[in-house]
This record gives sequence, C-alpha cells and structure tokens, in this order.
Amino acid sequence: MAVRVRPTRDLEEYLDTLEAINHYFGSERDPERGERFSRLLPFERLHAAFDGKAIVGSAGVLPFDLTVPGGEVPCAGVTVVGVLPTHRRRGILKAMMREQLTDVRERSEPIAALWASEETIYGRFGYGLASLDAMMRATRVHAALRPDLPQEGTVRLVSREEALRVIPRVYERVRRRTPGFVSRSADWWEVRTLNDEPSRRHGAGVLNRAVLELDGRPAGYALYRIRLDFEDATNRSKVHVLEAVGDSAVATREVWRFLLGIDWVEEIHCDLLPVDHPLLLLVQRPNRLAWKVFDGLWVRPVDVAAALQARGYASDGRVTLEVTADPHFSDNVGTWTVDGGAVRRSSRRPDVRLDVQALGAAYLGGFSFARLAAAGRVEEAARGGLARADALFRVDAAPYCPEIF
Ligand SMILES: CC(C)(COP(=O)(O)OP(=O)(O)OC[C@H]1O[C@@H](n2cnc3c(N)ncnc32)[C@H](O)[C@@H]1OP(=O)(O)O)[C@@H](O)C(=O)NCCC(=O)NCCS
Repeated sequence: MAVRVRPTRDLEEYLDTLEAINHYFGSERDPERGERFSRLLPFERLHAAFDGKAIVGSAGVLPFDLTVPGGEVPCAGVTVVGVLPTHRRRGILKAMMREQLTDVRERSEPIAALWASEETIYGRFGYGLASLDAMMRATRVHAALRPDLPQEGTVRLVSREEALRVIPRVYERVRRRTPGFVSRSADWWEVRTLNDEPSRRHGAGVLNRAVLELDGRPAGYALYRIRLDFEDATNRSKVHVLEAVGDSAVATREVWRFLLGIDWVEEIHCDLLPVDHPLLLLVQRPNRLAWKVFDGLWVRPVDVAAALQARGYASDGRVTLEVTADPHFSDNVGTWTVDGGAVRRSSRRPDVRLDVQALGAAYLGGFSFARLAAAGRVEEAARGGLARADALFRVDAAPYCPEIF
C-alpha cells in the first residue's frame, strides 16, 4: 500500500506521529510533554506518514526567525524527522521531505535549516552544511584565563522566575547580531531553554542559571548542570555548559571566567560553541580545551530570490550566481544577480556556478566561495568570480547556532 503524507490534525494524531522519532530517543509517549511541544511546533507543522491507518513517519517544522548576515529571515527549523525501522528505505523520508518543502514554500519561509542526525542524509534534499560547531572538554586545572586579563563584574545565581525575566533580554541583544541564532518566544524559554524537568537532565543535576552583571546591568549568562561522579575517592564531576552568552567581549570573557573557575569539578564540557570563539585566545593553554569541530546548521534556500534578498552584503558590489540544480524547486534554477543588495533574475554572464545545496552552504558566510570551490562544490565561471562573490558574502565572525533543535 502506498504511504500517504499529510499534516496532523489534533493532539491524538500529533502524539501518535511523534512516536516515530520517540522510537529513536527511547522515550515514552507523553501527552503532557507533547501538548507543551505543540506550543512551539503546531499540529499543522508536523507531517505524518500513514501506512493505512498506522502512522510510521514524522517530520516537523519549528517556525522561527533565523539571524542571517545583516538581518533575519523566517525559517523552517526542521526537526523530529523519523521513520520507524519497520518501514525504512521505502522512500518515506523522501515523500515527507517533498510535502514539507512544498508547505514551507507556500508559507513564504525563504529558507529551511536543520541539525543533521547523520551528515549523509540531507544533501539530496538541497541542504548544505552552512556552519560549524565546536565542542570542548576542558580539564579544569589547566583551563584558567590568562593572568593579564582584568576581572570585571559579578555573577549571581538566579531563580527560574528571575531568569525568565532577565536572560531572554540578553539573548535577544546577541541574537540580533549573530548569524545562526534563532528567535525564541516566551513559550520557547519556558518549555525548552529554562525547562528543568527531570527528563531533560540526562543523568546530570539541576539546571543552574547564572547571570553576569557589568556595572549593575545584566550583560551575560550561563546555563549549566553538574554531573556528579566519584572515582578513587576523587571528585571527577563535570560541568555541562548548555549555553554561555555575553553581549560584549568583556561579558563573554567574564561568563567563561566564572564557568572555568567552579571548584570541585574535573572537567568543563560545552557542545555548542562558535569555531572562532575567543576562549581559544583567552586561556593560557588552548590545547587543554580539547577543542573539536563538527557540523553545525544545514541551510536550504527554499526560495532563492527571497533568501538572497533577505540577507545583507558586505559591499555594494555586484555578483552573478548561476544556480544549476535544485532537486525540488525548478524555479530556483537560473541566473541571479545581486547588485547593491538588490536581487534579480538576470541574463548576465555568471561569476560562479553552484547547485542549491552549495548556495545553502555559502548563505550564512560560514564557508567562503573560495573554500567551496576548493572542495569542488562551486565552480568559478568568470575570472575573479570567486573573489567577487566572497567580497559580498563575507562575514566578520563564524555563524553559529547556540542550540540543537
Ligand atoms: C533517516 C531516516 C528518516 C530515513 O528514512 P527512510 O524512509 O528510510 O528514507 P528513504 O527511504 O526515503 O531514503 C531516501 C534516500 O535517503 C537515503 N538515506 C536514508 N537514510 C539514510 C542514512 N541514515 N544515511 C544515508 N542515506 C540515507 C536512502 O538511501 C535514499 O537514497 P536514494 O534517494 O539515493 O535512494 C530513518 O532512517 C530514520 O528515522 N533514522 C533515525 C532517525 C533520524 O536519524 N532522523 C533524522 C533526524 S535529523
């Protein structure tokens, strides 16, 4: 029997659909949690795949604004994608991606973005690796900041209620200027970021909320848990940093001074950092941070013209891009000129040639056209074309997304 795909219509169906991904997380059907999740991912944004009456696959979208260079853009945050192992490799993911992308285009969301469970899955649907993510496992005794850096500000541990009032404002200041950040509604903070129900602890302790004040004003924060561990009569506990944000260079430094200084732990772990985080230069021994790099956000231009129009450019110059292929939207294919920030379909000779996946990779500025060309993802179509494209798409700091969704 052919599998049908359509959005869910009510809570029962929504919960049944989430079972497809719950299978892989090993989590139980939980009506209360599902109902809360629907405040962020509404019923109509969750596609279910039906085999007869049975639901065998799920694919959802969290609608938010993604910060891009010079602005922000409505984005489909693709999540909870799963097909039950009883139905794998029958084209169900493909069918769900098709329906989802069509729906995203109809809703005028120019881009989609996701964190890939496996890097081999999403390229075929037009997603390109657009940002990198750094992970660190610092040994506390070696992780001190350089002694020449003055200590500033004070840190307070705050209640959940105070955190809900203070932290979103700091985040918002940083979000607006950091490509890769997602907008968070009040529900998002409550249901996700500052939610400390036991199922979210994964073996670690309670959520600690620390706020840094500089000149009496909240300027940064850290969310972290401590995972208690003893071995050979020695405390081998880890600090798990979920999010550490400062609204200035000093604030970022002081938030990290606080985190690296927590006593009676062996390591400080953080999984979501920009690859060019200043911490590498702030500490005395960067090697002891055990810095590793992984794939971050994958971006898919859903409407190429609208996506190119939505971001800002580093110069007023002109560049012409030929998009050679798109596995889903044939009208994305063609030649596009960006000129003084305006985008139009054009008949000019292209500077660079690339498919929609490579355009997604270049979109946030995380990978230059020159690097993409070196990797065989982009072709220079006119002499100096790569340099012209990079002059426009260049960004000052690596894009990064502070949360896996
Ligand atoms: C990943 C998953 C959704 C694939 O579903 P599926 O219905 O088996 O996929 P399809 O049959 O539609 O496959 C579509 C294509 O993707 C490929 N593919 C599917 N899963 C893949 C994987 N894990 N790695 C590499 N390729 C994969 C298929 O080979 C097929 O390729 P083709 O177009 O060249 O024939 C499913 O295996 C799953 O639920 N995995 C666990 C949860 C997960 O990883 N979810 C993603 C969260 S971001």
